Amino acid sequence: MAIVSPSVLSCDFGNLQKAVEMLDSSNAEWIHIDVMDGVFVPNISFGFPVLSTIRNHTSKLLDVHLMITNPDAYLTDFCSSGANIITVHYEACTHLHRTLSEIKRLGMKAGVALNPHTPVSVLQDIITEVDLVLIMSVNPGFGGQKFIASSVEKVIKLKKLIREKNTHTLIEVDGGINLENGRLLVEAGADALVAGSFVFGSSSPVETIKSLGELS
Ligand code: DX5
Ligand code: ZN
Repeated sequence: MAIVSPSVLSCDFGNLQKAVEMLDSSNAEWIHIDVMDGVFVPNISFGFPVLSTIRNHTSKLLDVHLMITNPDAYLTDFCSSGANIITVHYEACTHLHRTLSEIKRLGMKAGVALNPHTPVSVLQDIITEVDLVLIMSVNPGFGGQKFIASSVEKVIKLKKLIREKNTHTLIEVDGGINLENGRLLVEAGADALVAGSFVFGSSSPVETIKSLGELS
């Protein structure tokens, strides 16, 4: 069974409450929240008021993916807006150990995201401190992009590292995910799948989430 983390980036923001209530009633264990600052990625999404609104309409874990250059400055605000998991980008953190320690001190789970060009090996000396690694299977910034196939190999490498280091780190994959590549990712060792356009573009998002969750 895979953890499904549907990304609200692909929902109809005019009906955000309805979308969140639908996710709340679904088999999704987490809800993926993509925060973009227009600097780290070439797009701007949303921030604290939207996160707080989502928090008010669901009891699911909020899986917050920060695509921003200076996450340290906002960790407390994301925590008080309802985040349960905060994932920062490896490429955006000069003092990653400090950032992860602060996320955990605030009582949240700490994740690290790797862009498609960043090798798994950079996590060698930090993996024991990481609750979750988010493998980006597209270049971050937009929903609806094509899955980068070499991400499957990356999941295999990461699983190997996690086993070697004997940690409980979860593997999440984000970008262009559907049932076909989702199956390959879960077989390779992925624990959680993010899906935006595949869920919200389907005729029955609740059923799509269920099917993704049944992958094993
Ligand atoms: C991309 C975001 C993703 C995005 C996924 O920068 O991190 O979470 O919403 O959307 P799909 O599933 O449409 O690729
Ligand atoms: Zn994301």
